[in-house]
Amino acid sequence: MIPVPASLQTSQAADFPPGPNSQALFERAHAVFPDGTTRITVERDPVARYIARAKGAYLTDVDGKRFLDLNLNFTTLIHGHAFEPVIAAVERQMRSGTCFANPTEAEVELASLLCARVPRLERIRFVNTGTEAVMFAIKAARAFTGRSRIAKIEGAYHGAYDWVEVAQASVPENWGLPGSPAATPYYRGMPASVLDDVVVLRFNDAAGARQLLSRHASDIAAVVIDPMPSRAGLIAPGPEFVAALQETAREHGILIISDEVLNFRQAYHGAAARYGLQPDLFALGKIIGGGFPIGAVGGLSDVMSVFDGSRGRPLLPQGGTFSANPISMLAGHAAMKALDEIAYARLERLGNALRNRLEDAIARANAPLSVTGAASLFRIHPKPTPPREFREAHWSTAEAKVMKEMTRSFAGHGIVLPVGAAACLATTMGDAEIDAVAGAFEAFLAENADLLEEIS
Ligand SMILES: Cc1ncc(COP(=O)(O)O)c(C=O)c1O
Repeated sequence: MIPVPASLQTSQAADFPPGPNSQALFERAHAVFPDGTTRITVERDPVARYIARAKGAYLTDVDGKRFLDLNLNFTTLIHGHAFEPVIAAVERQMRSGTCFANPTEAEVELASLLCARVPRLERIRFVNTGTEAVMFAIKAARAFTGRSRIAKIEGAYHGAYDWVEVAQASVPENWGLPGSPAATPYYRGMPASVLDDVVVLRFNDAAGARQLLSRHASDIAAVVIDPMPSRAGLIAPGPEFVAALQETAREHGILIISDEVLNFRQAYHGAAARYGLQPDLFALGKIIGGGFPIGAVGGLSDVMSVFDGSRGRPLLPQGGTFSANPISMLAGHAAMKALDEIAYARLERLGNALRNRLEDAIARANAPLSVTGAASLFRIHPKPTPPREFREAHWSTAEAKVMKEMTRSFAGHGIVLPVGAAACLATTMGDAEIDAVAGAFEAFLAENADLLEEIS
């Protein structure tokens, strides 16, 4: 078994670290996975917590501990786990076949629902992940404009396509001057040509966006923008920034790609509509699959015509063995149908209530923390004032320690709180869950005054 260092055996966290069954599985996992996990985003502190089952807002781990889940598979499960309408739809389809080389009615249903809700989402294509959705949106912009470069936001996460990985993990040592953010590589050996093809913008820097986009205008196919990039701080876009992107892009024939893989959960009509952005293309994923793998690229009909193969080879061929499989389509349709305007309004109220409770607790404890987010999403920052962009949200070593302790403390109170990413609510949560989260946060503040003092 992997020994748990004494420094991690905190008395305040009764359920932290994970118990012996998780420890045994994690040890076995090291024989088959390079670091014991099969995705970088799995938390391990010091071991990963293995899950046995889940229902609604709650997970149960393999040691029998129950947790309120604020991660919900990286914001995917907007109705929580094992949502009954999804189970019913998937169970029915399982007996009729799970994937075919032919289309099914289910894909038309889900596409129709999404196109009816989202302005400017006139045509759509399904894929299997958000990464693929972003990749095809970028390729579509390239095919439409005949240009190859893209612009993206420093620190923003858009999945694993090389071009959007650029400047995803910039640090003060390499991120460059404020007016010329560097195109930093994400992994050793990343081709220099990829770096050359990416113009990096800073979130909420309207003047910088106008300047950089205009300077490189003739080469840029698209600006990829997540309206509230979670890894870059889960910060709302200011209206001047949205206007700067919109006007400069229009002026120079640059397309706007709204990556709403995560933030589509913010609003019935989508995140771009919420913030006044008018994209030419969208990348969707996560919630639209009801808990099954999915992605979608969509947008204006004329741009989406690059996928049109009805008159021979299209400008941009796109396939995918599991794309539009009926399981993901039906699960997604069941989840999205249940997510009506009333459900969105309720989530908005719950999110506002929680963010207010957290802010009140911070004010009462005079703690050097702040909260960002919107709708059903929130993020706590080890900063006395809410950051306005990625560089302001970046953690020092002492700040990282505070956030790690906060996650451990939440685990001790039976709550999964993601570290350095968006936490989220589900329609299956209510006042009891808001009370539990606010209570755990107040306990953390009360028990960690000394630690918080270090970042004051
Ligand atoms: C904004 C955004 N874009 C793209 C992706 C990639 O999606 P996937 O993990 O389904 O490939 C994510 C995943 O978290 C995301 O948050």
